[in-house]
Amino acid sequence: MTSVTSSITIQHTTASRINEVDFSNLEFGKYISDHMLVSEYKNKRWSEPIIKPYGEMMMSPAMLALHYGQAVFEGMKAYKMIDGNISIFRIHKHHDRFNISLGRMCMPEVPEELFVNGMHALIETDHAWIPQTDGSSMYIRPHVFASEARLGVKVSEQYKFIIMTSPVGPYFNKPIRVKVEETYVRAAEGGTGFAKCAGNYGGAFYPTQLAREQGFDQVLWTDARDHQFIDESGAMNVMFVMDGKLITPKLTSAILDGVTRDSILTLAREMNISAEERKISIKDLEEGFAKGTLTEAFGAGTAAVVAPIAVINIHGKDYALPEVKPDSIQMQIKKKLHNIRVGLEPDVHQWNYIIPVK
Ligand code: COI
Repeated sequence: MTSVTSSITIQHTTASRINEVDFSNLEFGKYISDHMLVSEYKNKRWSEPIIKPYGEMMMSPAMLALHYGQAVFEGMKAYKMIDGNISIFRIHKHHDRFNISLGRMCMPEVPEELFVNGMHALIETDHAWIPQTDGSSMYIRPHVFASEARLGVKVSEQYKFIIMTSPVGPYFNKPIRVKVEETYVRAAEGGTGFAKCAGNYGGAFYPTQLAREQGFDQVLWTDARDHQFIDESGAMNVMFVMDGKLITPKLTSAILDGVTRDSILTLAREMNISAEERKISIKDLEEGFAKGTLTEAFGAGTAAVVAPIAVINIHGKDYALPEVKPDSIQMQIKKKLHNIRVGLEPDVHQWNYIIPVK
């Protein structure tokens, strides 16, 4: 069946895969929902988007994204609210960041109307895929990649914008072990660290794999110049509670401007929790452990939400954090964030983009 919603053509699947989904065990990214949105950029303009069944696409092995890395994505989430409607969290902030990343990679911006209306129509089409169990949500992956077929090293003149979605559960199932990285580098100032471009992730695989082999879940990246200051954790920003104060590394061009990071800082200040963005050195962490003033550490990201850190390895030594209690700062903020997203608490900042379910 083909239909048209707010001028977007939808080719509905005739073979839904929803019955293949084990909603009680949603491994991150395992299932992709029935439909995807596609728009193509050619002759300096984006085509009318179309929603069609998710599946493989014909592409040239010479397409520039594969060779020179022009590929940018976002990670977002939609939630089923207590009144039955759907909320997409901070759609406009994600759109702004998407365009900032695209700009850094010499790629064309995606107009807000295409991003917002396209996502709205896609989520509406696959709303049955939004999981409803505690801690689960619909992960949304908008992305743009260079599709022009050329081997010359050049900025592509053709791109594809695709949105796909995936029902997901918690990214980590238990508090994680992280290793402060002092050999490898994720991003240097002036580089692409602040952009959500594919290369940042591919480049982190090798050191992360080494850390995994040593029993860690993630790497805690430090600044590229001196390996002295904490940057982020690659899949998420990082936050600490020291002397009762929430602290997180101040943004630089090497750190992703996380939407969850920003939301947590905003909520903390409203909850009268003192929150500070500043340089955080490895020494600060060591001192915090020695004095017992470092009481919490956690990752903050769209996929990870709030991910408690159990152990930080510094210069080869494991430092354990206290067990996370329900009244901890991270759990209080996580709860508040969840309540806002599902409509249990007022959304004073208008972070939720609501899709009414008919
Ligand atoms: C996100 O939190 O959306 C991320 O991009 C992290 C990871 C899944 C790539």
